[in-house]
Amino acid sequence: GTTLGASAAEKGRYFGAAVAAGRLGDSTYVNLLNREFNSVTAENEMKMDATEPNQGQFTFTNGDRIVNHATARGMKVRGHTLAWHAQQPGWMQRMEGSALRSALVNHVSRVASYYRGKVFTWDVVNEAFADGSGGGRRDSNLQRTGNDWIEVAFRTARTADPGAKLCYNDYNIDSWSAAKTQGVYRMVQDFKSRGVPIDCVGLQSHFGTSIPGDYLTTIQRFAALGVDVQITELDIAGSGSQQADNYRRVTQACLAVARCTGITVWGIRDTDSWRYPNDSPLLFDGSGNKKAAYTAVLNAL
Ligand code: XIL
Repeated sequence: GTTLGASAAEKGRYFGAAVAAGRLGDSTYVNLLNREFNSVTAENEMKMDATEPNQGQFTFTNGDRIVNHATARGMKVRGHTLAWHAQQPGWMQRMEGSALRSALVNHVSRVASYYRGKVFTWDVVNEAFADGSGGGRRDSNLQRTGNDWIEVAFRTARTADPGAKLCYNDYNIDSWSAAKTQGVYRMVQDFKSRGVPIDCVGLQSHFGTSIPGDYLTTIQRFAALGVDVQITELDIAGSGSQQADNYRRVTQACLAVARCTGITVWGIRDTDSWRYPNDSPLLFDGSGNKKAAYTAVLNAL
């Protein structure tokens, strides 16, 4: 193929980008999106603060802008994210206990129901594990409602949208040797053994200037549990041939595992990245030109 999306499709996979509704009027951005990608993730527009700014009042206007753009052009939509400790609306940040648990269930149910049939995969729960050596859960208002909050969110999402693939998504779970990766692995293993509905693990894959040497192992081990793996928020620091080589390695690792079903980069041009100007971690420069990293990915696909 001559584009990322078409080449990935030849391998039975998708190649996506995080999209901001506010950039859909930028013609350079939209031309790249339409030409290169066959999946989109809303960068912020489907998060809890965006979709339920006041309790019980749901707003889907900006999420719908992205969904409508994508579906009109035959692109898939990844939903991101139904439950997270961050980017909660103020009213939810101030809640706790059984009232928060009810609000969580209502939120997951309403948002997943609204997008039923339009979203092929949901990040049901985002970033629920702690960094460091413990391998346990991150403290948050959601975690303090009880350790079962994650499985409750997954069961609620399954009921609301039985056709969507349901993912657990996190960062720093790319290295197999990390305690955080092991903690997530044990949770997925437990969910599979008890019939909690989970279909996928999302590796955010926000990288510095190197890729963990055991990244392929991580993908293989999660896949062996009987879940898909998606690379959900890829961006890599550095520049030139080093950055290109790292992008090639990530692409090759995904293609090496049948259950690694797609890659999403977290933005289109470097200037669109949440890491800019500290890093220029994407596949197109600020003018929309293809970088060496782009060519490395396309050649690896
Ligand atoms: C980031 C967005 O890119 C920013 O625009 C926003 O200000 C903060 O969130 N992990 C995630 C994403 O799961 O939702 C985050 O996106 C990046 C880290």
